[in-house]
Amino acid sequence: MKLSDIKSSEAELQDYYAQLRSQHITPAWIGGGITREPKSKAVPWVWHWRDLRPQAMRAAQLVGTEQAERRVLRLTNPELPGLSASNTMVANIQIVMPGEVARAHRHSGSALRLIIEGKGGYTVVNGARLSMAPGDLVLTPNWTWHDHANDTDGPMIWLDGLDTPLVRMLEAGFYEEYHKETQTIVEGAGSPFVKYGEGGLRPVWEAEPATRYSPLWHYPMFQARAALERLAADRSGGPLDGIILEYTNPVTGGPAMPTIACFIQMLRAGERTQAHRSVCCTNYHVIEGRGYSIVGGTRFDWEDKDVFTVPTWTFREHVNDSDRPAFLFSFTDAPVMRALDLYREEAKAG
Ligand SMILES: [Fe+2]
Repeated sequence: MKLSDIKSSEAELQDYYAQLRSQHITPAWIGGGITREPKSKAVPWVWHWRDLRPQAMRAAQLVGTEQAERRVLRLTNPELPGLSASNTMVANIQIVMPGEVARAHRHSGSALRLIIEGKGGYTVVNGARLSMAPGDLVLTPNWTWHDHANDTDGPMIWLDGLDTPLVRMLEAGFYEEYHKETQTIVEGAGSPFVKYGEGGLRPVWEAEPATRYSPLWHYPMFQARAALERLAADRSGGPLDGIILEYTNPVTGGPAMPTIACFIQMLRAGERTQAHRSVCCTNYHVIEGRGYSIVGGTRFDWEDKDVFTVPTWTFREHVNDSDRPAFLFSFTDAPVMRALDLYREEAKAG
């Protein structure tokens, strides 16, 4: 047995390829498609709050929530053909003005909200009212009814993260409008934070959810901050990312949602993390702090409320060169990669 040595004339090959094209068939040996390692079309990018906030306020002047189902500015990666910050996930800025509601609907895509500005507006998820404050994480997972309202006297602005590019690629998207503008709020027994908000303690009488997403839809910043500060005082932290915590499903210990994992990270004053890369795309939001990240060899300076994206298999390291702690929120499609046995990570040598 040996490799065969068949040779044809260029004319004969081109004639054959033309025939194949006419029959919608492609010879794989000239098609490429296999790379030695992941190479994202997306590029590392940063969107600064100093640009985002005025444009969100301008959108609030120009477009009402009756015209726009959601008043959302989509952060668009310069090199991706679709309108998304990263390959499988979007990162959006949403604004709801005082007195406004964003009507109730549900969809197969899963979503998260990381509150940036405003305190006291709320999201209703399957009848549960979740109050929102800066730094809070709110989930509106796959096929849960959700609407938003702002009964405060200032704008409510948050970062939206959704897996819609992935769901679209899988051709698995459903969408439905609620029969009313807003859901009826179920007081008391429905509050997920009352049931699941104390980490490590789970109500025994609650049946295990049939869905894989976290039944705790609200992760307040005050809890996350306290946990990070305790760990900092304890001089804890891992070798790659320092002090980083995952928002978990309190029933399974797994990621917050099957398609999106969420994290919060504290960079102590002067801290520099180790450069590493992983098979997942990651979107970061600077809850507070100032510093920079080196992503794929390029330095991106960031400060309070900026958003930046790290494509898959791209080295990133974070530096807090200020004299106060920095808090980074991030969300990734790592659960998808892990579920498919595609996840890898590695530290940069040297
Ligand atoms: Fe939605």
